[in-house]
Amino acid sequence: MNVFITRKIPQTAIDLLVNEGFDVSVYGKDNAAGKNILMKQTKDADGVITLLNDRIDAEIIANMTRCRVIANYAVGYNNIDIEAADKKKIIVTNTPDVLTESTADLAVTLLLACSRRILEGHSMVVNGKFNGWKPELLLGVELKNKYAGIIGAGRIGTAAAKRLKAFGCKIIYFSRKRNPSLENETGAKKVNLDTLLKKSDFVSIHVPLNSETKFLLDKEKLSLLKPSAIIINTARGEILDETALIQMLKEKKLFAAGFDVYTNEPEINKKLLKLKNVVLLPHLGSATVEARGEMALLAAKNVINVLKGRKALTPVLSKNR
Ligand code: DGY
Repeated sequence: MNVFITRKIPQTAIDLLVNEGFDVSVYGKDNAAGKNILMKQTKDADGVITLLNDRIDAEIIANMTRCRVIANYAVGYNNIDIEAADKKKIIVTNTPDVLTESTADLAVTLLLACSRRILEGHSMVVNGKFNGWKPELLLGVELKNKYAGIIGAGRIGTAAAKRLKAFGCKIIYFSRKRNPSLENETGAKKVNLDTLLKKSDFVSIHVPLNSETKFLLDKEKLSLLKPSAIIINTARGEILDETALIQMLKEKKLFAAGFDVYTNEPEINKKLLKLKNVVLLPHLGSATVEARGEMALLAAKNVINVLKGRKALTPVLSKNR
């Protein structure tokens, strides 16, 4: 049986597949494979490992002749047409848990970078503009005693909330379901979205992208934020109205924003590049040696399990669990 991997992933996972007797082919270029290549390479594959920037649409899935498993190398799976896969009885898997800590670390990193104006300070130093300590040079804000609003209290949202609790934040959250363990561990309170946006000093987004969350934070919702607020997005770009957010940042209707994800990723809205009150990262949420290694192994094990007739470890549809 053969497995196609749409980009080079950590070698341990490739070795595992080879040791289990699979023929593995990897798209070797450093850019996303693109539709034509995906159509061609997935056509006769028994299993496919995809990345979050490979759009596996209904047409690609319809063209697959043998595929039984699509293992997404990400926790988010908005890039895959789940219904089309389900109709063909193809199991889709993702990589939950293994990237939780890394992504939560990054959300807090972005928040600290924004709240303490780290990039402005860095560029002042490297551009030779630091001409001595000043009482009011680049003043930021403390985290202690501030309201941190967590949108989406799943694994990553919970891990981010725990970190922010340790910094002295008061946690409020918006989520479909109550999260009693988050409440017990951090004293977090569940609130509605409007309350969260009005009350929070810091907002961190941790919902998956789907039809319910697309543009969850539209222009109207964003306008509820305090002018002193900081918003962090490590989830998906389309969860908020990027154009509206940029305008607010430009007009100083917000203190700052930290972006790890973008609406038209990897294209970046040029207006963002001109702003000083932003920190922009190239989708690094899970980019640690630990997380990426575990993600690769989990994706490979999902493929092996399904192709060897066992249950997938982390299928995305509960009915397949
Ligand atoms: C994911 O896995 O969905 C994350 O966006 C990676 O950073």
